[in-house]
Amino acid sequence: MTWGNKIRLTVFGESHGPAVGAVLEGLPAGGEIDMEEVLAQMARRAPGHDRSSTPRKESDEPRVLSGLWNGRITGAPLCAVIANADTRSSDYGEIQNIPRPGHADYTAYVRYHGFQDVRGGGRFSGRLTAPLVFAGAVCRQILKRRGVTVGAHVLSVHGVKDVPFDPVHLPAALLEDLSSRYFPTLGPDAERAMRAEIEAARRNLDSVGGVAECAAVGLPAGFGGPLSEGAESVLSSLLFAIPACKGVEFGAGFAAADLFGSENNDPFYYDGGTVRTRTNRAGGILGGITTGMPLVFRAAFKPTPSIGREQDSVDLAAKKNAKLTVRGRHDPCIVPRAVPAVEAAAAVALLDLLS
Ligand SMILES: Cc1cc2nc3c(=O)[nH]c(=O)nc-3n(C[C@H](O)[C@H](O)[C@H](O)COP(=O)(O)O)c2cc1C
Repeated sequence: MTWGNKIRLTVFGESHGPAVGAVLEGLPAGGEIDMEEVLAQMARRAPGHDRSSTPRKESDEPRVLSGLWNGRITGAPLCAVIANADTRSSDYGEIQNIPRPGHADYTAYVRYHGFQDVRGGGRFSGRLTAPLVFAGAVCRQILKRRGVTVGAHVLSVHGVKDVPFDPVHLPAALLEDLSSRYFPTLGPDAERAMRAEIEAARRNLDSVGGVAECAAVGLPAGFGGPLSEGAESVLSSLLFAIPACKGVEFGAGFAAADLFGSENNDPFYYDGGTVRTRTNRAGGILGGITTGMPLVFRAAFKPTPSIGREQDSVDLAAKKNAKLTVRGRHDPCIVPRAVPAVEAAAAVALLDLLS
């Protein structure tokens, strides 16, 4: 559960254990950290906002054990724990032996020989994004002082679409505004239409997925490197650490596969003394190295696996087919709560690249 090179992030804990937490190493000493701003980011991810998320209530206040003193980074590993208060483990008795289709219960059972903590999804729970958001909230403050701003919006929910980012003209103020909101969209009607889609799925004992689109501006050209050092490799390895993330694409992404080279290449030009591109289908990365244009990527999230309908499964103890009706409290759509996790992963990964 440790990620990173110059910045190293370790995430620990299980959904229904006493706490989850993060250890962040490699941060530059002396930087000021505004805990109010950290709490605001944690609150965006916390459950219980409304009916589009799980009714589980968690205050998600990180308790910092080391690495911060008088509001500044000390240079020691920054360790924070976030208590798990609102757990209802009785909901999970059945899935000990009957795995939820679409969740990690079966694969974890095989991998850990049945000893894994199944309560609330254990280590596979979306709750493990709370420490990630904590780490991201710290890293984005360091990035901001270096002129880099990260922000994301809900691009789609079950096919209901928001307006995509303009990958060439992307004001930092827009990203800042998005990263202060719970259900950020660009278009005025998108949030209402998406919420209606999520609510319809919830009433139908079902769930829906969607796509988060994220950008970073103010990134200088020349960071990253080829092959596994590349910005895409570094970013996507942390994005895929977010549970239910099933796809990541940069710039034009999969759509580039249908273009001619003449359509996909971004022409260069001099803007004063700075080299820029007129279009940005590269999403701000060429050869794994930042171009200086906005970094733009999308992360696709599958529908929440735990749904209220009866489903086919197996009883691993009795070794026979079984029916399962999932109990417990679940998000009918993961995407709004995944948005701050996507921003956090981007912030941690970008600080790693810039360090
Ligand atoms: C913020 C967040 C909240 C989530 N909430 C739930 C949930 O309430 N119920 C559920 O079954 N899965 C939820 N998930 C997804 C599962 O954790 C995930 O699908 C599971 O671990 C299997 O991993 P995989 O989908 O990456 O293969 C959530 C994920 C995130 C990021």
